[in-house]
Amino acid sequence: MPIFSRNRVVAMPDITTPRPGGIGHLGEHAVSRVGYGAMQLERLRHDRPTAIALLRRAVEFGVDHIDTAHFYGNGFVNGLLREAITPADGVTIVTKIGADPNPGGPVPLRFAQHPDELRASVEANLRSLDLQQLPVVLLRRADAGPGMKAQADQVVDLDDQLETMIALRDRGKIGAFGIGSVGAEALRRSIPAGIVFVQNAYSMVSREDEALLESSAAENIAWVPFFPLGGAFAGFPKVTEQPVVAQAAQRLGVTSAQIGLAWLLHHNSHILLIPGTADIAHLAANVAAGAIEFDECTMAELDTVPNG
Ligand SMILES: NC(=O)c1ccc[n+]([C@@H]2O[C@H](COP(=O)([O-])OP(=O)(O)OC[C@H]3O[C@@H](n4cnc5c(N)ncnc54)[C@H](OP(=O)(O)O)[C@@H]3O)[C@@H](O)[C@H]2O)c1
Repeated sequence: MPIFSRNRVVAMPDITTPRPGGIGHLGEHAVSRVGYGAMQLERLRHDRPTAIALLRRAVEFGVDHIDTAHFYGNGFVNGLLREAITPADGVTIVTKIGADPNPGGPVPLRFAQHPDELRASVEANLRSLDLQQLPVVLLRRADAGPGMKAQADQVVDLDDQLETMIALRDRGKIGAFGIGSVGAEALRRSIPAGIVFVQNAYSMVSREDEALLESSAAENIAWVPFFPLGGAFAGFPKVTEQPVVAQAAQRLGVTSAQIGLAWLLHHNSHILLIPGTADIAHLAANVAAGAIEFDECTMAELDTVPNG
């Protein structure tokens, strides 16, 4: 199936191409279940060659789903993708709207939830990625944590946003969209709009949204969790700090991070991974996690890891 990319129509890659973790679906896009989250590349602002090399390595490994945002480094991360990824790579780039860069502010992003701001953020992403159409877009709501929640005039009615997203899709500015940082009510209201994925925080140690994951899966909607390892920020529980995870890792001769990612893949077939890393060796390990098999006993043990 053709996709619009960089001012021309290109062919989707051969579906027989091996993909880490097997094949998952973001709407009509068949993607590797082990994708890549590009947020950590902000840390390589002063080492652009390594950032570009990491993205090229991801493509060589068969990763064809990359999560980004214009507000990651105020266009810096999208600029890396523009430079490193070519249309021939067949990568499905998923970007976010709902927040804009806030250079010099107390935090480097600010909410931009209103319909006119969503439309402007689409244009900013189109420019920084140098695309004619954003293949898949996350409407990053701010209803549920972790992280900042929308307040005051940034509390915007979901129906107004969904109407905007549908219009952007009808006009071909975006190909498909998902929602994120939402609760059950927003998910229920978004399903008729044809969302293709949900992006909430979720991992082996943070399973508050188990019911949401099940609701999404029942509708054949992908679940693409952020913080699949617990994130890089202090104060959030980390998968790699769990003794049960360390024991399983030792038994299988892999790392704790790999166990955490493999558990997600085994937990529900609708889960797609976007682990973030600025380290090429970690990228390789995360890709390799897509091939880890668990026996029933190990999976049952990992299921007992406490939430939070
Ligand atoms: N929708 C949203 O609001 C939202 C919020 C946050 C993030 N996101 C997206 O979700 C993606 C994933 O979230 P995240 O990056 O914040 O958290 P994460 O993937 O849970 O964890 C990233 C942290 O884990 C480390 N790490 C990664 N692979 C590792 C490995 N194999 N061994 C040891 N450590 C490893 C990274 O350090 P190294 O760099 O040293 O490997 C980094 O400190 C982001 O990159 C971003 O694209 C979305």
